[in-house]
Amino acid sequence: MAALVSVELDAQEVDWEFAPGRSIRGFGYNGQVPGPTIRADVGDTVEVRLTNSLPQATTIHWHGVRVRAEMDGTEAVQPPVGPGETFDYRFVVPDAGTYWYHSHTNETEQLERGLYGALIVRDPKDPAFDAERILHVDDLKLAPDGDLAPFGDEHEHHSGREGDVRLVNGRQEPTFEIPADTVERWRIIDAANTRFVRLSLGGRSFSIIGTDGGLLPAPVSATEVLITPGERVDLAVGPFDEGEQIEIEALPYDRGKGESDRERFATLQVGAAAESSAQLPQTLRRIDPLADQTAEPNRTIDLKALMHAGHHQRADPVRVGELQVWDLVNETGQDHPFHIHGFFFQVLQHDGEPSPELAWKDTVNVPRRSQTRIAWLPDDRPGEWMYHCHILEHHAMGMMAHFSVVR
Ligand code: C2O
Ligand code: CU
Repeated sequence: MAALVSVELDAQEVDWEFAPGRSIRGFGYNGQVPGPTIRADVGDTVEVRLTNSLPQATTIHWHGVRVRAEMDGTEAVQPPVGPGETFDYRFVVPDAGTYWYHSHTNETEQLERGLYGALIVRDPKDPAFDAERILHVDDLKLAPDGDLAPFGDEHEHHSGREGDVRLVNGRQEPTFEIPADTVERWRIIDAANTRFVRLSLGGRSFSIIGTDGGLLPAPVSATEVLITPGERVDLAVGPFDEGEQIEIEALPYDRGKGESDRERFATLQVGAAAESSAQLPQTLRRIDPLADQTAEPNRTIDLKALMHAGHHQRADPVRVGELQVWDLVNETGQDHPFHIHGFFFQVLQHDGEPSPELAWKDTVNVPRRSQTRIAWLPDDRPGEWMYHCHILEHHAMGMMAHFSVVR
């Protein structure tokens, strides 16, 4: 039975204490960073009353959720919600998975200040784990006086905004506990403006079980996974032995700005053993390919041109039911996580190499000087949509386009 999930989100200013004794003036839903986790079962209706208690306009985008166009939370489909105003969002959650919601107005500032949260859609048939944990990875860029660094200098426009304070769930390098012998499902969301996280759990192996649009066909065993802004990954983590201490860290990665350092995001402390009833099946779900991996593209998106074209670009419309095969060509010197609103795609190939696994994605990193071919099928939700780079500073400077889905 589909249920109605009602939530009130009040966007308000908050003293955000990201580390003991250290705080900044943040923006939080219901006064917390991250905002409250919204949980629903697949098929439920989610209704959210947004109250804007901020001194500036805002909207909420339901990243990854296949909502109707009018509920997408962008300024292309609704007037921004001014200070003191409210707006009611209402939509069905048709797909199980790890989603997130975030401001879609003055995003570079509003997300940096904390306006984001998780939206978890469960399926009763999801595999059983001993526990589930949501990790929002993020960072903060502070000025020497300890307050937020000013927004929008030239360097940020070009390279994105990255800070030295690394956060998980709004706290600087926190410590988590996991009971020995147990296996948890970790739902990880990259909520940072720009930061890429090549995640490692101290070199230990884990299983990747899901991505943006829910479970993979089968678990993939790995010791690292790259998560770029906007993306999600679900992992099966553990079992570990009592007394172990494991660093949750980012390995060096070069997104075109030189190789980053190896950096800690959090620490995992393994406590006393607990009974485990986790079951990780060998098959998680079925995903049918949308197109042959060698399908010819019917559109090419030149990310370099997109980056330099400025605002208010319109791309050609797409028709409901007509398969889209798009080549995302990145001739710039930096990686760009490309996000399409409202629809999932499948990655067919990277630089001519077939994509190793079938997955539903809404955001994909297109590495510098490479190309990625995706396929997607517009289902019957006509209206105004957009795609953009999820490095928020790139989006803000106009690395985006509007397009309509027409019948
Ligand atoms: Cu998370 Cu317009 O996106
Ligand atoms: Cu970009």
